[in-house]
Amino acid sequence: MERLQKVIAQAGVASRRKAEELITNGHVSVNGKVMKELGTKVSTNDKIEVNGVPIEREQPVYYMLYKPTGVISSVSDDKGRKVVTDFFPHVDKRIFPVGRLDYDTSGLLLLTNDGEFANLLMHPKYEVDKVYIAKLKGIPTREQLKSLDKGIKLEDGMTAPAKTKFISSDRKKNTAIVQILIHEGRNRQVRRMFEAIGCPVMKLKRERYGFLTLIGLNPGEKRELTPHEVKQLRTMASQPRK
Ligand code: URA
Repeated sequence: MERLQKVIAQAGVASRRKAEELITNGHVSVNGKVMKELGTKVSTNDKIEVNGVPIEREQPVYYMLYKPTGVISSVSDDKGRKVVTDFFPHVDKRIFPVGRLDYDTSGLLLLTNDGEFANLLMHPKYEVDKVYIAKLKGIPTREQLKSLDKGIKLEDGMTAPAKTKFISSDRKKNTAIVQILIHEGRNRQVRRMFEAIGCPVMKLKRERYGFLTLIGLNPGEKRELTPHEVKQLRTMASQPRK
């Protein structure tokens, strides 16, 4: 038995808080009866409707994929390009990516059918640390990297402080490898941050998501998260940043 608001959130209809509002405002029915009580427990046999539409309930599943470059972080593509769910032909559940990596970015991507879990991880208030490794055109100075660490102005506002680490450079080719940790998830954020200091990204890979790493996986490979990892991610994501 699970709480009604949790089941609605897991089905991806709304966040847990919005699901509570839907319930108290009389938009939810269980087995044909409007249920305004929060905390009502429901079983898998109960028929739940939101505004008269039955919610889809599936056993929640959680995966990590080592996304190769040249793949769209989506469940379908109108141009017929490869999408991340193509790597899960054996999964009969409606999984989707938690956030996105650009077409040209490789690395760690989570997929799930648990809407509540995805919302929690992507919520701006809770967003988890993500570590990227970037190959740059140009060699950034210490000051330039410091400006990223402080927060830099992009067209959609200042970025939150980042943590950069200079890894190596190739003077002849005028390229550098830099690691960067951020917790925000704005569109093409890392690329735009390096662009802002005049060192465009040539290659980008997400190496870490929270405590999860790609160890043991090659590009295109995936594995299921352990129940403990899912629990840890939930706990981590529920703690607001200081
Ligand atoms: N930042 C980017 O610029 N691209 C990604 O894919 C992820 C983060």
